[in-house]
Amino acid sequence: MAQFKLPAFGHGGDYNPDQWLDRPDVLEDDIRYMKEAGVNLLSVGIFAWAALEPEEGKYTFGWLRDILDNFHKNGISAFLATPSGARPAWMSKKYPEVLRYENGVKFEHGNRHNHCFTSPVYRSFVTKMNTRLAEEFASHPAVVGWHISNEYSGQCHCENCQRAFRKWLKEKYHTLENVNKAWWTSFWSKTFTDWDQIRSPERNGETSLTGLTLDWMRFVTHQTIDFVKCETAPIKKITPNLPVTINTMQNFTFLSYPKFAEVVDFMGYDCYSKWGKYSDYRTAVDTAFTYDSVRGYLLKPWSLMESTPSQVNWHDVCKIKRPGIHMLSSVQAVAHGSDTVMMFQWRKGRGGPEKFHGAVIGHDMTNKTRVFKEVKEVGALLEKISPIVNAEIKSECALIYDFESFWALNEAQGPVKDKEYHKVLVSHYEALSKRGVNIDVIDSEKDFNAYKVIAAPYLYMVKPGVAERLEAFVENGGTLVLGYFSGVADENDLCFLGGAPGPLKKLAGVWAEETDALYDGQKNAIVINKNDDIDMQGRYECGFMLDVLNLEGAKMVGAYESDYYAGTGALTVKKTGKGETWYIAARTEQRFLDDFYKALLKSSNVTPIVSGLPDGVTVTEREKDGNRYVFVMNFSEKDASVSLPEGVSMITGECVKGLKVLPANGFEIICRK
Ligand code: GLA
Ligand code: ZN
Repeated sequence: MAQFKLPAFGHGGDYNPDQWLDRPDVLEDDIRYMKEAGVNLLSVGIFAWAALEPEEGKYTFGWLRDILDNFHKNGISAFLATPSGARPAWMSKKYPEVLRYENGVKFEHGNRHNHCFTSPVYRSFVTKMNTRLAEEFASHPAVVGWHISNEYSGQCHCENCQRAFRKWLKEKYHTLENVNKAWWTSFWSKTFTDWDQIRSPERNGETSLTGLTLDWMRFVTHQTIDFVKCETAPIKKITPNLPVTINTMQNFTFLSYPKFAEVVDFMGYDCYSKWGKYSDYRTAVDTAFTYDSVRGYLLKPWSLMESTPSQVNWHDVCKIKRPGIHMLSSVQAVAHGSDTVMMFQWRKGRGGPEKFHGAVIGHDMTNKTRVFKEVKEVGALLEKISPIVNAEIKSECALIYDFESFWALNEAQGPVKDKEYHKVLVSHYEALSKRGVNIDVIDSEKDFNAYKVIAAPYLYMVKPGVAERLEAFVENGGTLVLGYFSGVADENDLCFLGGAPGPLKKLAGVWAEETDALYDGQKNAIVINKNDDIDMQGRYECGFMLDVLNLEGAKMVGAYESDYYAGTGALTVKKTGKGETWYIAARTEQRFLDDFYKALLKSSNVTPIVSGLPDGVTVTEREKDGNRYVFVMNFSEKDASVSLPEGVSMITGECVKGLKVLPANGFEIICRK
């Protein structure tokens, strides 16, 4: 693995000089303005294939070398991109097999991110291009890493892909009998008697076999990863010392991103949160959850590859980030483990669909804008806190976010239509975050041993080995939080016989005999009386989805208030070995989770970074060389008085300790004693 270790925080973003090759004056301004803004890292050439290979086999890299030479002369670095995200028209015309086929339609040339990921012809062109780029720029001092393609996405259902899918299935199942069993094809007479009868679940095809849909989604991840390996093979051979990354995208959930950990040296992420649509705190919590999810793929520093300094052009409403929010959202990325603050894009294009997307340099072509000034402030801050770069985040708490469980849950018909998986996870994340702790958001196949508390709500699918590892975690003193509609199905989405929570039944000490669902507005409540198991009592509303539990070793701590299951267990706990497992049987109001995790983290001896956080203020801590760096951020939109740990402010250099008033959008970064 090549190391992703920048000497300082990377600050910059997507740079598309191939759109300005006829304007050398603009390219000169770019360098001047980049230096003024403290911009030191650009992703270059992402969509430049037509400028790099204007005709088949004719490579024109001179302009790119000039750009990189100029970068190096001015102390600027580059993530060099492989341009497979958009191909030249000559290729589509002469080799139509490179075009995607989806929902019964063969794509024409156009748009982007729409190649066939199986096509041997496309893979051959990509290999040739990437080999040339690596050979040409292997030792260029400005190049510090590779930006592989752009935001892999989508799927192809062409005959090449169908054949590749069947090959993948044969390697996984070996016999059709195993496929029929795994997919429960006896249902609606779907038994396959020949491999060629199996096709991908296209919209006009077989969409009622969740086992097929799940395996197709796993294949899409597999084939995309296989394509990445094709991209990076020449690069790793020619430039083994340069790290490679892909830029994952906010809200893309159709690829199992944790699986990409095997093909990247660090993880890139494009974040375009809707600042200004909700309260800043709401947006901050949703954003922090995504940041910690991205960090969770490799559990090491990552790279905010794209963000906007002002507004996007593709939200329904493209509201501009209010003054101070670009700084605060940039600090938040660093606080959650990013070693870069990069934007889309450096300069607005004159034409094309993104000409109204936020950028550092607008159509005014100057450095006079409010946006430029805010970017420059971010650059100055990143320079000031550069000792923190590469610092790790250590967490005592983890939240399990499993892509495949999410896929299967979403495919399930019942007990509710919109499963709201992410909203449920974010509500647990928010309650944990209010406790002033770092949180790892991890896949269910990650290691559990580093944690004191693991929240695994809504874990619909329990894959082989997960229950056993959770049991070991609890046995060794861990605190596990489970919840309704968990342990329902296995890795093939076949329901566990014996009922839910399946392999977690023994650990939880409950059997969920039924799972009810309530309409909007209909509520039940969980009533918790004073008890010896958790420092929490009161009445809390619940609804949406509710398990009706039989206790099988667990102790009831809270009971349902109404309905035919009034008085039965709604919050239970079961001790196992040195630890305990809690089961929250219904979706509750946020106040329940806030009170629950407040009590639970205390009894589980989790140490807060900062305790007594006022509403709307969040905190994280990064560690490096024995130093601990505390980030305190005020998203409350008003002054907030926070009791800070003793240390030295990385912003002012002054000693800080005790109560400090942070203004709205204010933050403090402390190197604590
Ligand atoms: C994505 C893409 C970029 C650009 C931005 C616009 O993240 O990676 O090329 O289209 O969106 O927000
Ligand atoms: Zn295809």
